[in-house]
Amino acid sequence: MKLTGNTIFITGGGSGIGRGLAEAFHNLGNKVIISGRRKKNLQETLIANPGIDAVSLDVTNPIQIREVAANLVRDYPALNVVINNAGIMLPDNADGEVAEELLVSTVSTNLLAPIRVTSAFIEHLKTQPSSAILHVSSVLGFVPLAGTAVYSATKAALHSYSMSQRYRLKDSSVEVLEIAPPWVRTDLMNSREEERAMPLDDFIEQTMVSLETATTEVLVEGAKPMRNNPGPTEHGFVGQFNDMLVGVNKAA
Ligand SMILES: NC(=O)c1ccc[n+]([C@@H]2O[C@H](COP(=O)([O-])OP(=O)(O)OC[C@H]3O[C@@H](n4cnc5c(N)ncnc54)[C@H](OP(=O)(O)O)[C@@H]3O)[C@@H](O)[C@H]2O)c1
Repeated sequence: MKLTGNTIFITGGGSGIGRGLAEAFHNLGNKVIISGRRKKNLQETLIANPGIDAVSLDVTNPIQIREVAANLVRDYPALNVVINNAGIMLPDNADGEVAEELLVSTVSTNLLAPIRVTSAFIEHLKTQPSSAILHVSSVLGFVPLAGTAVYSATKAALHSYSMSQRYRLKDSSVEVLEIAPPWVRTDLMNSREEERAMPLDDFIEQTMVSLETATTEVLVEGAKPMRNNPGPTEHGFVGQFNDMLVGVNKAA
């Protein structure tokens, strides 16, 4: 996608990867509008980056999504990029009873929301000469982490949805890109200090480089072994990966 001259709306832009992408695009001169639930995070991001705008949005609320999208299209008629970044990741029990609240909130945030947000903007995006939808999935969509089975399943589903959507939009002005991060140092699963995770700045830097030429997926180097796994040897790979991280699973 082109990295300049855009008007970009991003969900979950007040922290972690969302804030990193918002700042990177803002620093390149794009107009950026962030959203999220925690006003304090949005406010801090605005103060640190004069020129970024913010709106309050809980992406699990379909009515709010429609209202916010209509207001944004009215206030920013040049809006041409939507980044579905908001996500939650909670440890679960695929070997036992999965808590209803975890199930509904995870599927609503990580899968239903990107579909609903995109649906709310899609007709407007089609009117733009050049536009893009970016979905932030995860390498765990390709190799599930057994201790976060619902999360991993939502990201696999988002990968699938991205492919369908890309196919359906292939003759339009709307490009569909999937960013599949590896483990990155953010608040997700309390990973901000996690040595084995990729530093956030490095992730954002590599992602921005890759975004410029990507046509389907945006993968930093560290994500590629996981992305390349699915195939006939998948089952062994999933076992090895989970054995390697079993300590993390127990801690989580
Ligand atoms: N960090 C990693 O290792 C990693 C790896 C692969 C994929 N990812 C993906 O990257 C994305 C960003 O995560 P992150 O690592 O940057 O973690 P993060 O700092 O916790 O960011 C998650 C963001 O999502 C927003 N969010 C969550 N629920 C929301 C809701 N109901 N409505 C609106 N916003 C909501 C949060 O804002 P509020 O709480 O203020 O609403 C927050 O800004 C997620 O989709 C995650 O799955 C992360």
